[in-house]
Amino acid sequence: MIEINHISKSFPGKQAVKDLYLNIPDGKIFGFLGPNGAGKSTTIKMMTGILPIDEGSIRINGVDVAEAPMKAKHLFGYVPDRSDIFLRLKGIEYLNFIADVFHVPKQVRKEKIEYLTKSFGIYEALDDHIQTYSHGMRQKIVVSGVLLHDPDVWILDEPLTGLDPKSSYTLKEMMREHAARGKIVFFSTHVLEVVEQLCDEVAIINNGHVQFQGNMAEMRQQFKEDDNLERLFLELTQNG
Ligand SMILES: Nc1ncnc2c1ncn2[C@@H]1O[C@H](COP(=O)(O)OP(=O)(O)OP(=O)(O)O)[C@@H](O)[C@H]1O
Ligand SMILES: [Mg+2]
Repeated sequence: MIEINHISKSFPGKQAVKDLYLNIPDGKIFGFLGPNGAGKSTTIKMMTGILPIDEGSIRINGVDVAEAPMKAKHLFGYVPDRSDIFLRLKGIEYLNFIADVFHVPKQVRKEKIEYLTKSFGIYEALDDHIQTYSHGMRQKIVVSGVLLHDPDVWILDEPLTGLDPKSSYTLKEMMREHAARGKIVFFSTHVLEVVEQLCDEVAIINNGHVQFQGNMAEMRQQFKEDDNLERLFLELTQNG
């Protein structure tokens, strides 16, 4: 379970996240939906310890991310919105590095790396430097790194952006399997269709506030008889 307790975050001249409160239960695919600039990435960066939290607290499976950052980091895997890290490493070096950091046993890592990178169609590129990878390939190598160490909680910032249809399908299937094993998949998106297709629960964020949290049926029910979710989403997010 992820507990986000009334967190806030300001940048000079801008409050990006305001008193945001969310509970994310186990066994669910949880969509964090909002328009550009809503505060999704800022929230995710606080969850993952990249940005300090101004006010409030976040606990992942009971571990406070600010008080016990190392312990928390072993519980989750994170795919950032822009995967431009470790560009000088070869794909295989990056995955072996991740496997070392997270103590993935030598016997299983080779098999897992092969399975994951073949599933995403980047197996052939493992000996190339990440610098030479396209955006989608970088995304896939980072996703493979997360899946390699098999954390309980997946935190994915716009994971499907830039993936081709086959890889997008593969990742969605993996997300479903992970949630079906009782684990958490938390991901951000600004695409309503993705949420409708994939999520058990959704939170809609706009201007740093959560406007709604619930399942799809509750979302429809709560916001009048409107059967057009797209209109609903636009209504919820247009005026803040
Ligand atoms: N490092 C920063 N310095 C100043 N302002 C920032 C910084 N990072 C984010 N912001 C501001 O905070 C607000 C929320 O940004 P954030 O990146 O969290 O949005 P988002 O929901 O992830 O949007 P997108 O869908 O475009 O990724 C925006 O107004 C943005 O300009
Ligand atoms: Mg973002």
